[in-house]
Amino acid sequence: MKNINNIIKPKIVPLKIQKDKLYVLDQRILPHEIFWLECKNENETAAAIKDMYVRGAPAIGIAAAYGFYLGVYSLVQNGKKVTDASLNKIKNTLDKSRPTAVNLFWATEKMYSKAVNFLKYISKKNAEKEKDKSLLNELYNEALSIHEDDAKRCYDMSVTGLDYIKNTIKKKKYRILTHCNAGSLATGGIGTALGVIRLLHNEGKVENVYCDETRPYLQGARLTAFEFQKEKIPATLITDSMAGFLMQKGLIDLIVTGADRITRRHDVANKIGTYSLSVLAKAHKIPFFVAAPLSTFDENLISGSEIPIEERSADEVRMCQGKLIAAKIPVLNYSFDVTPKENITAIFHEEGVVR
Ligand code: MRU
Repeated sequence: MKNINNIIKPKIVPLKIQKDKLYVLDQRILPHEIFWLECKNENETAAAIKDMYVRGAPAIGIAAAYGFYLGVYSLVQNGKKVTDASLNKIKNTLDKSRPTAVNLFWATEKMYSKAVNFLKYISKKNAEKEKDKSLLNELYNEALSIHEDDAKRCYDMSVTGLDYIKNTIKKKKYRILTHCNAGSLATGGIGTALGVIRLLHNEGKVENVYCDETRPYLQGARLTAFEFQKEKIPATLITDSMAGFLMQKGLIDLIVTGADRITRRHDVANKIGTYSLSVLAKAHKIPFFVAAPLSTFDENLISGSEIPIEERSADEVRMCQGKLIAAKIPVLNYSFDVTPKENITAIFHEEGVVR
């Protein structure tokens, strides 16, 4: 294996943090333009998540954690008192940004509990100014640790996936299909599905990766293709509807995707089109893998039918590069679908494999 330190450091990151602001890489205009959006409080961060400047379940969670910190930071800067009610308001603003990726709620809950517990413990002992300073320190460090922790989770789950695939699919090199973008742009590290692919490539095990363009937002065409190019991983871009034909032609050895929410029964919500791929994979007896950190597992839901599925605007479908391309008829734009556990060969996470 090549030096791990070279591959654990992603070549492109979605977020940069300072003590007073968060910089969010505008993923809507990648790969041809680079623009960093400045967010100074929870409202601006929530808008960046809603409008998909930042996207991908783990990255949404990390951005929300920083957004929470910045919400408290701006309260303190404006001389306002940090109370249970104001913390709740910050959390709610962030929680309303996107409904499907559970990492968002996982991260804001972690930040909120940290703040509430800190205030409970510290309130009687400290002067107001000192108290705010310590609270901000605590929250900054918590957000940072959510971020750094995700990088480690990505790496560990990728090792899990690498070992599992090598042990169960005996081939010299693999032809892999992936959907959407589950890479460094979507996480705090090397990615989930793309992390697995990166490690396979590092061992010389990748013949080619087919990336679905992923209509309508084109995360595959714009982001995954870009990441593969940067990492020099052999890859081919295909239209979403081509995937079944490639499977029929025997060109795909395995499929690996990320996830936005995994229920207790191990049904998986991921980018729209994932379910169709899983049905096609089953029909062609192709292993279908999911890679996701434990922060994507939702212990509160049993079955996939309980997962809230985001519906996005009609214009995302009927417009292309600012031009109207469709007739003016109603549009349905579900952003995610649910793959039942019966269609999934294995789920890789940082602590092991769910079969
Ligand atoms: O709408 P998006 O771009 O946020 O959807 C992203 C996905 O569906 C990813 O596959 C998922 O979040 C996993 S990212 C590691």
